[in-house]
Amino acid sequence: MSEAKRLAAEKAIEYVEAGSIIGVGTGSTVAYFIDALGSMKDPIKGAVSSSDQSTDRLRAVGIEVYDLNATGPLSLYVDGADECDPHKRLIKGGGAALTREKIIAEASARFVCIVDPSKQVDVLGKFPLPVEVIPMARSLVAREILALTRAQPVWRQDANERGVVTDNGNLILDIHGLAITDPLALESAINQIPGVVAVGLFARRPADVVIVGGEPPHIL
Ligand code: A5P
Repeated sequence: MSEAKRLAAEKAIEYVEAGSIIGVGTGSTVAYFIDALGSMKDPIKGAVSSSDQSTDRLRAVGIEVYDLNATGPLSLYVDGADECDPHKRLIKGGGAALTREKIIAEASARFVCIVDPSKQVDVLGKFPLPVEVIPMARSLVAREILALTRAQPVWRQDANERGVVTDNGNLILDIHGLAITDPLALESAINQIPGVVAVGLFARRPADVVIVGGEPPHIL
């Protein structure tokens, strides 16, 4: 799948305007995009980054990283996804960067999502839905999610069996066993639970364009 990711990422360069400041997401597909940004003949002015991981990679290829408060609205955001439905609604947050990704998507006029074909689904939810939570609210949020969805939230652990900590100092619950027939309603309901920082459902603000990597790439 890495070849499909690279092809999607390189196609996304066609949406990038020289001299602009763009939003940049997180993940292995975005890593190819950052590398392609770094070798543009007419470079961008800089980027707003959705994670420490992407910030490091952007700087490594010589791209200046800006604070979203300083740039104001952005013309373009490019990011990957964990699942994508035919309406361009997404599950994101497999890399634990969902909150900053959601903020940058909201701030951007156009959201171009880059995926390999394995990310396409008819109904979202096979990929466990990530929710970023304030640490003291972890159990409360898990109980409320179980009551709301009847699906099981699991506290995400790292390789050393310690709770994953996001760039914002919070924890992640992954909701397993969902079939999300009304993504907008579920996004809104989970957002109402006190202690939830963000849910990795992108239905209220879906992608505008989805590039599915292949020879040639397929545009939704
Ligand atoms: C990061 O939190 C996620 O939203 C990523 O965008 C998503 O996991 C995409 O992953 P890959 O591009 O690595 O498949």
